[in-house]
Amino acid sequence: MTADEMKKAVAMAALDLVKPMLAADVVIGIGTGSTANHFIDALKPYANDFLGAVASSDASAQRLKANGVDVLELNSAGTLPVYVDGADEFDPRFNLIKGGGAALTREKIVAQASQQFICIVDGSKQVPVLGNFPLPVEVIPMARSLVARELVKLGGDPVYREGVITDNGNVILDVHNLSITDPKGLEAAINNLPGVVCNGLFALRGADVVLMGTPDGVQSLSI
Ligand code: A5P
Repeated sequence: MTADEMKKAVAMAALDLVKPMLAADVVIGIGTGSTANHFIDALKPYANDFLGAVASSDASAQRLKANGVDVLELNSAGTLPVYVDGADEFDPRFNLIKGGGAALTREKIVAQASQQFICIVDGSKQVPVLGNFPLPVEVIPMARSLVARELVKLGGDPVYREGVITDNGNVILDVHNLSITDPKGLEAAINNLPGVVCNGLFALRGADVVLMGTPDGVQSLSI
């Protein structure tokens, strides 16, 4: 099984969990990335079975619409029953690193607005300790150098993701060489730096369910 086939398999497994929740007044949250894209495509036959979706990126919003799913603003949707999204890394406590696709801020907002976060990943994303994947930090452009110096003080090596502007008009610093033994503490510490909009640690609100694709099939993991 290729990595893409595993991503598709976990998307189908997530659909099995979400289908019983769908109803005429239900709005669900949808993430961003190649795994979330498989989930969006899998929703197409069910597009008329629920009210619509809140998307964590413009790219996902466009893909949802192309699949016949109405896209709603979070402000008019209230609390969502479920959010389905991928991740770049997850640890045994279901803390995540996200933001490889630069959509971390809206992803964190929609995850926070959701009662359940179903994380869909292939097995390459499973790690004992977060940090091998560089931690994305979304920063107001004028604060880029200031925040980079502060991230060095926190033990990381920030690298400016050149040529990338987020959906919110900001820039991304990818922080290398972190060994994240206190995900909640580091998430809060980075959030406290002036100029930081959001960081890609999802620990204060991590995943509730992880569906992991392996060559032997999909594993539903629990803490
Ligand atoms: C987008 O900003 C990310 O958080 C993605 O959810 C993450 O990078 C996983 O992407 P893939 O599903 O493409 O691996």
